[in-house]
Amino acid sequence: MAEQARQQKVHITTFGCQMNEYDSSRLASLLASHGFVPAEDAESADLVLLNTCSVRERAEHKVYSYLGALRELKQRRPGLLIGVGGCVAQQEGKRLLDSVPYLDLVFGTQALERVPELIEEARAGRRVVCTPGEPMPVGLAGAHEADHPQLRPGLKAMVTVMTGCDNFCSYCVVPYVRGRERSRPASEVAREVAQLTAAGAREVTLLGQNVNSYRDPERGLDFAGLLEMLCREPELWRLRFTTSHPKDLSPALVEAMAGLDKVMEQLHLPAQSGSDRVLAAMKRGYTRRQYLERVADLRRRAPGVCLGGDIIVGFPGETEDDFAQSLSLLEEVGYDFLFSFMYSDRPFTKASKLPDKHLEAEKSRRLQRLQELQRGISLARHRALVGSVAEVLVEGPAKRGQGLMSGRERGGRVVNFEGKAELKGTLARVRVKEGLVNSLKGRLVGPAGGVEP
Ligand code: 5AD
Ligand code: SF4
Repeated sequence: MAEQARQQKVHITTFGCQMNEYDSSRLASLLASHGFVPAEDAESADLVLLNTCSVRERAEHKVYSYLGALRELKQRRPGLLIGVGGCVAQQEGKRLLDSVPYLDLVFGTQALERVPELIEEARAGRRVVCTPGEPMPVGLAGAHEADHPQLRPGLKAMVTVMTGCDNFCSYCVVPYVRGRERSRPASEVAREVAQLTAAGAREVTLLGQNVNSYRDPERGLDFAGLLEMLCREPELWRLRFTTSHPKDLSPALVEAMAGLDKVMEQLHLPAQSGSDRVLAAMKRGYTRRQYLERVADLRRRAPGVCLGGDIIVGFPGETEDDFAQSLSLLEEVGYDFLFSFMYSDRPFTKASKLPDKHLEAEKSRRLQRLQELQRGISLARHRALVGSVAEVLVEGPAKRGQGLMSGRERGGRVVNFEGKAELKGTLARVRVKEGLVNSLKGRLVGPAGGVEP
């Protein structure tokens, strides 16, 4: 009984994307309402949960090596409960319990709300798996959102507006582990944004695998409409969103970005490859030319937009010429930021069954080449900003210290500058003095909206 009376401690480790971070924060909030308090580390926890990612092989490996490290802890403290949730859990289901004998519970991407009751079952000594293929009834999900606001949001917060994906790109496991596209009601999203701003958040990033496909299930609002609605929240200063699929990027969304002051000029528009042959094999639904047209159109209407992309190197059958076309795409687009990955086989996917797989060494060579090229492009683009004045939301001291303060400008680029700690949480105007590969350095001019001295 004494054991039950003591507050139970939970430690959650998140792997993967922002969507997982968001789910982990919801889970933390849900468990807090069931009496759990956060533990500093796994060592001091009564319950250790892993929120996992399976989008690439490497991400999945990390999960297994972390689990391996927990084995010894469980041996020392058999009362410790260990659970795995998220995409690896959804993908593997019961197999995970079979292969990891000291695991107590497995919960899929649709089963967050049920975790408290699953913990109870595990406490009673049953090893449990809950990986439903379909979402929870809307009422249940809705009740959760309203009742469990995210714990202690900072200045910046995330809100998932849609989950799942219907695109089935040939390399991607997401549609299998996250399920079909589902949008949250706009009213629920607005309520959550209001809760976050009331708790001090000033910048919100809206998350979805493909936000362009957002459709309010209650009133039919599209994503541009949702942005417009959220901009009416008085205490919200900045809105960002990610990710956009090039084939679905709507003129209304571009217009919203260009026209709504609170919507930041930042777009993550993954191309995945610069070669039409590879794009077709990936089933992306656009050609290189169409992608470039979208980019040109975007830059016409939102000139200073900060543009990011994803590129996969070493897709099965990608020739040296295909790869050269990805390199030239980087130059032609002039990305501000780029995420690049070596192709890896994922379960269930069409691409995993294709012939002509590349060796790791070759994929690695291509990746390095691509990243080297991008470093030069990012540097040149950052240097081109020298002399301009950026509007920065000041987040706090810069990571590498040097007595500098740090924040992000409207495009999402990191800006470091000399300034007082009191500036934290304010909007400042900073003149860019230096462009580096991953950040900008500047000099404080004054508060946003203020007059330049
Ligand atoms: N191999 C390598 N990269 C992948 N991505 C998705 N699936 C794979 C895979 N099988 C990359 C894509 C996507 C990003 C989230 O991860 O670039 O945009
Ligand atoms: Fe995966 Fe393609 Fe959906 Fe993105 S759009 S999540 S790459 S299937």
